[in-house]
Formats: sequence, C-alpha cells, structure tokens
Amino acid sequence: MPPRPLAAPDAEAVRNALRGVIDPELGDNIVELEMVRSVHIDQDGQVVVEVALTVAGCPLRAQLRDDVTARVKAVPGVSGVKVRMGEMNPEERGALMARARWKAREGAPANEIPARTRVVAIASGKGGVGKSSVTANLAAAMAGRGLTVGVLDADIWGFSLPRMLGLEGRISGERTDAGPKIMPLEKRVGSGLLKVVSMGFLSGEDEAIMWRGLMLNRAVQHFLEDVRWGDMDYLLIDMPPGTGDVQMGLARMLPRTELLVVTTPPLAAQLVAARVVDMARKGYLRVAGVIENMSAFTCEHGVSYPLFGSGGGERLAREVGVPLVGSVPLDPAVAAGGDIGSPVVLAGPSPVADAFAAIAERLVTEVSPLVEMSGCTARMLERVEVALDPKS
Ligand SMILES: Nc1ncnc2c1ncn2[C@@H]1O[C@H](COP(=O)(O)OP(=O)(O)O)[C@@H](O)[C@H]1O
Ligand SMILES: [Mg+2]
Repeated sequence: MPPRPLAAPDAEAVRNALRGVIDPELGDNIVELEMVRSVHIDQDGQVVVEVALTVAGCPLRAQLRDDVTARVKAVPGVSGVKVRMGEMNPEERGALMARARWKAREGAPANEIPARTRVVAIASGKGGVGKSSVTANLAAAMAGRGLTVGVLDADIWGFSLPRMLGLEGRISGERTDAGPKIMPLEKRVGSGLLKVVSMGFLSGEDEAIMWRGLMLNRAVQHFLEDVRWGDMDYLLIDMPPGTGDVQMGLARMLPRTELLVVTTPPLAAQLVAARVVDMARKGYLRVAGVIENMSAFTCEHGVSYPLFGSGGGERLAREVGVPLVGSVPLDPAVAAGGDIGSPVVLAGPSPVADAFAAIAERLVTEVSPLVEMSGCTARMLERVEVALDPKS
C-alpha cells in the first residue's frame, strides 16, 4: 500500500490546541477570551492564526506568539505556523474586560494569589527525580536575588520542604469573617524573603484530623484561598508525583500556572513527554521548560561520570518544544543540604550551586520573567479586582 498522505489539520484540533495558550495576566485561555480572531488552514497544512491583543504594545506579545506557534505546531498535519498580531478595538476590549469580570465573579474560585505574581509549578512524570530539591534550591536562589518567593508544598502527604528549607513551626488554619487566617512561615534569604506553606506545619491533632478528611485537591485549594500570602514576585509550587487530581485542580484554580518539568537523564523521554504534555493539554497549562536533574557526577579531579546516562533532559525538551532551562549535576551535597535545612545553592560556589543559581537566573530573566504590567491589561484587571473585592 502506498503511504497515506498526511491529512490537513483539523480546524477543531487547532482551536483546541489554542486553548492551551493562556494569557497569564487574565488567567484564561485566548480562545475563551475571544482573542483569536481567525484561524486559516490551507491544503499544505500551513496555519495562520490571527490574535487580537488588548494593547498592541503588550509586553506579553512575544510570549503569546511563541506559545501559539509551539501549540499549533504540535497538531498533527501542521507544516507551518504564522501568527498575526492585531489590536482590539475599544468595543472588543470592553467585551473582554466584561468577560474577565464575569469570570472573576462567577467562574474561577477566588484565591489569595496577587495578579502580578508569576506562578511556576515544579512537576514531573514520576517521583524521586528531585522536584522538591529543585523547588527548595530555586526558591532560595531567587530569594537570594532579592525577590519575594512564595513556596506552596502541594505534595500533601509526601511533604519535604519544611525539612529542606529548615523551617519548623506551626500554622493554624481558620476561616474568619474577615477572610482567611493562615499565615505562611517566613524566612529571610539575603535581601529576599521566602513565604512557605506546607502540610508539615499543620501537625496539631485537631487540624491533622480536619485536614485528613479533605481530599488532596481541597487541601491545595485551602492553601490557595485561605493563606494570606500577601505580595509575592513568584509562587513556586512543589507538585506531588504524577499527573493526577492535584494537577488538574491547580489548572482549574490557577490557570496561569506554568510548568517546569524535572526529569533525570535516563528516563525514556517519549514516555515522560507524552505524560507531561497530556497533563498540560488537559489542564491547558503552559510548559515553560525542562530541568534535568542528577546529570553527570563530577569527581574532585574534575572527571565527569554520567552515572545515569545523559541527554534525557535535552530529548524531553525537544519533544515538548520548550527550552532545557538547565542541568543539575548529581552531588551528595544536594541531599546533605536538604537534610540540614540549608539548600546547597546558598553554600557558596560549587558546580551544583552554580547550576541551581544559573537556572534561577534564566527563569527570572528569560523563561518566566516578571512582566512590567503597567502598559498592559493587568492594570485594568487589577481595577476590576479592586472593584469586586468586598474587603476594600
Ligand atoms: N542533584 C542531586 N544530587 C544528589 N542527590 C539528589 C539530587 N537531587 C535530588 N537528590 C536526592 O534525591 C532524593 C529525591 O529528591 P526529591 O527532591 O525528594 O525528589 P521528588 O520531590 O521528585 O520526589 C532526595 O534524597 C534528594 O536529596
Ligand atoms: Mg517531593
């Protein structure tokens, strides 16, 4: 039989792929927000997508363009993607803000995460790859740069961040008429600040019983809604292993969440990629990048041993179509730092500390930089939120 010619992509499939593109400010996908003006597909699989921005000079322009391109390219049968950027007229903009307002009121559950905070979840296809170690070290490195970094330990039963960050203490949860009353535990790092919430801080009998009754998802929801996070530049979320309920719940509650996927060198890249991409698609979450952990071990003589193989991170990043943000070598100092509650990235220069620092730097300058929101829709959105906030 002659090979079947590749079918032209299906318009519905392209639209569904576009639902994976989230406007991080408005916290919804660009299809739902009606920012997709048109989708044109020709016989050869060339796709032209026209996207209407709220403001032509929107700082998110490049990110949206990259994201649209990557998502649509992944649709079977697509041979090329062109993105045309337009600008909304005042009526369209008005309609968009009305939808955002409606959503804020009726749709997505309220949460205490400020609109300007970038939310990055550290995820993986399987456990034990170093998600928590990466979260602890990135958080510490980012705070060391003077940032305020929230850390949400969403590994409800397998929490390890209190130990890794050297935080002990108790927080108690209570919902009052004046709003939520859980304060995160704080730790100063250089001129920055960590704000951490973990199941490990809820150790009292009564609370433990109360919390045990909650489904995993509800526990995370509690952390998002009932913690008084206050202002934050970033919120890092340490995910439980796998691709289940918590992931989907997070996608619903905080659709602007971006995923950093941690993998180890030998993992069968395709299998993990498929799982992660599937999770991201179902939840319409953006995958921001891949981190390879437990890469080659370098001995004191400078000889490098790829104990666990090599190239897994690179392969996975290529599969998913996102950057490999960095590789962290295998080093017992990572585990030791975790055990004494002092992330290795703070222990002074070493190949492993430098690797974590470089990843943090790339994250904040390139992969998920803080967006200067003043020229963008966020200002409008913030006004909407203030107008809706019963506390103000
Ligand atoms: N780069 C590394 N070098 C050496 N040990 C590591 C490294 N990354 C993680 N570990 C160790 O591997 C184990 C699993 O890491 P952890 O961060 O708890 O993974 P996860 O959160 O994905 O389950 C821990 O004992 C941790 O100290
Ligand atoms: Mg963990």
